[in-house]
Amino acid sequence: MKVLVYGTGYVGLVTGVCLANYGHKVVCLDIDKEKIYKLGNGKMPFYEPGLEEMLQKNRENGRLDFTNRLHSLDSFQVVFIAVGTPQKENGEANLRYVEEVAQEIGSMLRKEIVIIIKSTVPVGTSKKVHDIIDKAKNISVFEEDVKVHIVSNPEFLREGCAVYDFEHPDKIVIGSKKGPDGEFAREMMRNLYSSIKLRDDLYIEVKNETAELIKYACNAFLASKVAFINEMAQLCNETGADVQNIAKAMGADGRISSKFLNPGPGYGGSCFPKDVLALDYISKLNGLDLPIISSINRSNKKHIETTVARIIKIVAIGGMKVAVLGLSFKPETDDVRESPAIEIINQLLRKGVTVNATCPKGIPGAKVVLNNMEEYYQKSLNFFDDVYRAIYEADAIVLVTEWKEYRALDFDEVKRIMNGNIIFDLRNVYAKNSFVRKHFKYFGMGT
Ligand SMILES: NC(=O)c1ccc[n+]([C@@H]2O[C@H](COP(=O)([O-])OP(=O)(O)OC[C@H]3O[C@@H](n4cnc5c(N)ncnc54)[C@H](O)[C@@H]3O)[C@@H](O)[C@H]2O)c1
Repeated sequence: MKVLVYGTGYVGLVTGVCLANYGHKVVCLDIDKEKIYKLGNGKMPFYEPGLEEMLQKNRENGRLDFTNRLHSLDSFQVVFIAVGTPQKENGEANLRYVEEVAQEIGSMLRKEIVIIIKSTVPVGTSKKVHDIIDKAKNISVFEEDVKVHIVSNPEFLREGCAVYDFEHPDKIVIGSKKGPDGEFAREMMRNLYSSIKLRDDLYIEVKNETAELIKYACNAFLASKVAFINEMAQLCNETGADVQNIAKAMGADGRISSKFLNPGPGYGGSCFPKDVLALDYISKLNGLDLPIISSINRSNKKHIETTVARIIKIVAIGGMKVAVLGLSFKPETDDVRESPAIEIINQLLRKGVTVNATCPKGIPGAKVVLNNMEEYYQKSLNFFDDVYRAIYEADAIVLVTEWKEYRALDFDEVKRIMNGNIIFDLRNVYAKNSFVRKHFKYFGMGT
């Protein structure tokens, strides 16, 4: 099949490269010229394990191409929209980029086509996109009108294992028009994804509106699970109970499941905070007051604040040096968007603490984000590629993101090169390490 993908971010690029790898002929389009230049040379604009090799292979075999601009859609059967939908100040999803793409598609349309919305968008966006395309169509040059089919196909990949997730999804959600009107699009989607092996009942065909809401429901539910266990961790900190055992017992209950029950510093990333906020906005727009949804982000924000306050209470003595391990919002990605590490560093610097920050992939992104800070504070911030250099002469370690490199630190060496002996383990990675608990002043998350 001939496929066009708008947007070469985490979602668009993974989609384009993986579809090319399945044998489809794919063109990826992005307005970011630098990204396209890099991709055209077989280089990744961000880090995602396994993607670069697949990108190069499919470029070489001629199934994958990149461009900034197109003048015709005639050669494509399906077009993905995978551009960003960042949040507006009021929490609403900003559909500007989606609408711009819809406008462009409409202006080039000359034959029947399937448009697949992969971006996370509010209920009703498929209709909006259809209307924009319809309006932008230059139908005067046609004998007959051209049919546009809009599919809502939300993405559930996780950064850090996005290629695996694309090839082994736990579900595929296809939203289209009900009845015979949607059959052309549904048939096209079945063909497009025919190489992905999935149980029939996990290939879920629904109305567009349902598909749009499924994505928000999934993210809000997962976010609420994280927020819940984090609240339990706080309670354990105060009571002496152990959240690890609580999570273990809860997870043993098949109705609950053990996934997303790991306490941490609070969720971040480009999806959870923004999607929960957008869902809250959608609820209010529909005249509803939904207390669970509206309190998830509030709980997370409060948890990050409490975590930061707990650290500051111990280390905010002028002149202390703190090594912060892990800057990306989770391991195996360079994405620092909404990463709790950034907030923690921000607060530490403002309390006069010197921060040595390290991360296997997150340093470039963190430098950009933290560059907004006043110069005065930036002077106390140092970045190190090597974790032991970051720890050298530090009074305390704060492990924020559980990269595997940090799981197996040589603690004899750590003890030897550190000035102090404080470890904040915000992911409970060392909770069972008797050496750490014996030789360091250990602060876990509810354990
Ligand atoms: N990142 C994730 O883990 C993830 C997972 C599931 C869903 N999503 C959703 O998928 C969407 C994309 O997310 P992302 O993380 O890939 O975003 P991103 O910010 O990494 O990438 C978006 C890309 O779209 C490009 N773009 C903007 N306007 C364009 C236009 N008119 N034409 C062509 N390209 C254009 C940008 O230059 C950018 O490269 C969002 O709605 C997000 O919520 C993201």
